[in-house]
Amino acid sequence: MLRVEMLRKSLVSWFIFLTLCIPAVHAQTAGKTVLDGVYSDAQALRGEAAYTAHCRVCHGEGLEGVSAPELSGNRFIEHWREDALDTIYNFIRQSMPLGRAPDAKAIPDSDYLDIVTHILKVNGYRAGASELTPDVLANIMLVGKNGPQPVPDGSLIITVGCLSQSRDGVWILFSATEPARTRRASTSTPAERSASSQKRLGNLIFRLAELDAVPDFEPDSHKGHKMQVKGYLVRQPNAERISLSLMEELDSMCAP
Ligand code: HEC
Repeated sequence: MLRVEMLRKSLVSWFIFLTLCIPAVHAQTAGKTVLDGVYSDAQALRGEAAYTAHCRVCHGEGLEGVSAPELSGNRFIEHWREDALDTIYNFIRQSMPLGRAPDAKAIPDSDYLDIVTHILKVNGYRAGASELTPDVLANIMLVGKNGPQPVPDGSLIITVGCLSQSRDGVWILFSATEPARTRRASTSTPAERSASSQKRLGNLIFRLAELDAVPDFEPDSHKGHKMQVKGYLVRQPNAERISLSLMEELDSMCAP
């Protein structure tokens, strides 16, 4: 681990230089979050009615959970935060109510959307002037009350960085970007790839584990290359680890 530490130190000076050259790299994409009043009170009221009809029996009147998990509070938010609202919307649209009879009348998408706003309201996120619409779901982040935070320990994440091996044989990702949530473990979409290609490298270092979990991946042939990486984040003091599920080369150079 000492070697990783040394590598880190030598990289730090390089990055201070780079950061000075490229201002505003760190400005996080100024997207909206659920703290910005993203639904209307009328919509949440409609959502409450739809929730009562389709969800209450298992999740409870006040979302406190009965035969199914609670849909409010810390555990629930930890499960979904630092991800766009379309993830939870698509989840409930595709899988809830659980065990629904195949011949049951489909619930309209607009009802699912209203239910999402009811869930936001009960979780204490304020209403705003206009309704939540499906086209903006992918651009609104679900965050905790304190705003955007690093993703929780154990999340499936995506990051971009350069592959290297320390002298004690440990594979590492350096110059890595802040990890973001992803929901697809072992494949990537063209949109993810293109977003990753355009990402500027960051200043994080991760130890990589479970390299053999990635089919046909030969780390030796990607040394020093810029990679798109997915896996489960394991936070540890000094050396955060990624248990890999996907490695894809973006560039044969490690250029910012
Ligand atoms: C028949 C009981 C039942 C009904 C009705 C039902 N659910 Fe669920 N729901 C479950 C169970 C069980 C789970 C936990 C298993 C899972 O996550 O797949 C769950 C999980 C969830 C989760 C994830 C919880 C978490 O911890 O992150 C959400 C969100 C959710 N349900 C929303 C809804 C919504 C919205 C409705 C109404 C449209 C609904 N459910 C109706 C049983 C139900």
